[in-house]
Amino acid sequence: MKVGVPTEIKTDEYRVALTPAGVRELVDRGHDVVVESGAGEGSGLPDETYVAQGARIAPDADAVFAEAELIVKVKEPQAVEVGRLEPRHTLFTYLHLAPDPELTHGLMESGATCIAYETVEDDRGRLPLLAPMSEVAGKIATQAGAFILEKPLGGRGILLGGVPGVPAAKVKIIGGGVVGMNAAFIAIGMEADVTVFDRNIDRLRELDVALGGRADTCFSTTLTIEEHLAEADLVIGAVLVHGARAPRVVTRDQLSLMKRHAVLVDVSIDQGGCFETSRPTTHSDPTYQVDGITHYCVTNMPGAVPVTSTYALTNATMPYVLRLAADGVQRTLQGEPGFMHGLNVAAGQVTYEPIARDQGLEFVPPREALAAVAAR
Ligand SMILES: NC(=O)c1ccc[n+]([C@@H]2O[C@H](COP(=O)([O-])OP(=O)(O)OC[C@H]3O[C@@H](n4cnc5c(N)ncnc54)[C@H](O)[C@@H]3O)[C@@H](O)[C@H]2O)c1
Repeated sequence: MKVGVPTEIKTDEYRVALTPAGVRELVDRGHDVVVESGAGEGSGLPDETYVAQGARIAPDADAVFAEAELIVKVKEPQAVEVGRLEPRHTLFTYLHLAPDPELTHGLMESGATCIAYETVEDDRGRLPLLAPMSEVAGKIATQAGAFILEKPLGGRGILLGGVPGVPAAKVKIIGGGVVGMNAAFIAIGMEADVTVFDRNIDRLRELDVALGGRADTCFSTTLTIEEHLAEADLVIGAVLVHGARAPRVVTRDQLSLMKRHAVLVDVSIDQGGCFETSRPTTHSDPTYQVDGITHYCVTNMPGAVPVTSTYALTNATMPYVLRLAADGVQRTLQGEPGFMHGLNVAAGQVTYEPIARDQGLEFVPPREALAAVAAR
């Protein structure tokens, strides 16, 4: 298999989809790996480190897409990258299609077979390729929130952990999955007063154990969230319904319940955002204000710490890349139901039901679409 690794071109994105260790694993199994020059630079991985493990370096992205059959990336393809995709390509990357009809249509028109990291499931229904980046994003969410609460940055001017004689800040985390739990770990470590909300009672039980009673858990309803908003200093949005547009958990009207210059961090922004007033931002310009509330809505939070994130991501993705390279997309996905869940677009059709539902498109079962790919 010819595997291609282009340089990430999303704003402030420094991760890379394959490390030299991944190149070595592929090359040792007889595959051919072509890496765009400079692709690893942002993660401290110069071209020579790839060459030393058997990769070839291509001068630009056009050359990578022209040569490779399997394209591995980190973030969703940008418009110019979508233009390079052809029916012979398999694309393996984060896609987050539910809130993005333009990208969905672009991928459908490309004819490529597109597998999304974030909807691949393991045999317990968990999301093994989203989890490592959710761990990073959860930790950053609290760090970023603590920083933005400082007065010179437009925050309320409250220290997350307080000091003896002065109470800690109140942190409300809505969604207690991987992001939420990691945000809570850091907030607890910073000695904040933490409450985690979720709709899944079993998850709340798990969190109660994992957090060792050092945070409150709360069943998430409109009323419980409203009651807590009034006292919140930092609210972290971390909800997810697999593959679907994020549910709205705070409306614009509810911002009026909050203290001025409190902070909202919307980690779910990559799935469209879970606060009504959220819109995507970048690391270069991460925040904006609505009704006196600071919003932080960076869509690629782990991109800020590529030296950690690239390894965390590729540790999880590499075994999947190896299986795709070994057996091809048809055999691999047909043999692994959890991996098949990753298929979002194939043969010009949407093959993941929540995306089709959110966008009013026809859903074509993945096996049917793969058969159409094979018949081409
Ligand atoms: N912005 C970024 O850079 C970035 C990075 C990584 C992950 N993410 C996103 O963070 C979000 C959370 O990811 P995760 O891995 O923690 O998902 P997860 O599936 O582990 O957890 C999501 C949790 O949300 C809960 N939930 C769903 N609807 C809810 C509601 N209405 N109220 C309260 N809880 C609700 C679920 O029960 C679940 O426990 C996803 O949208 C993911 O794509 C963003």
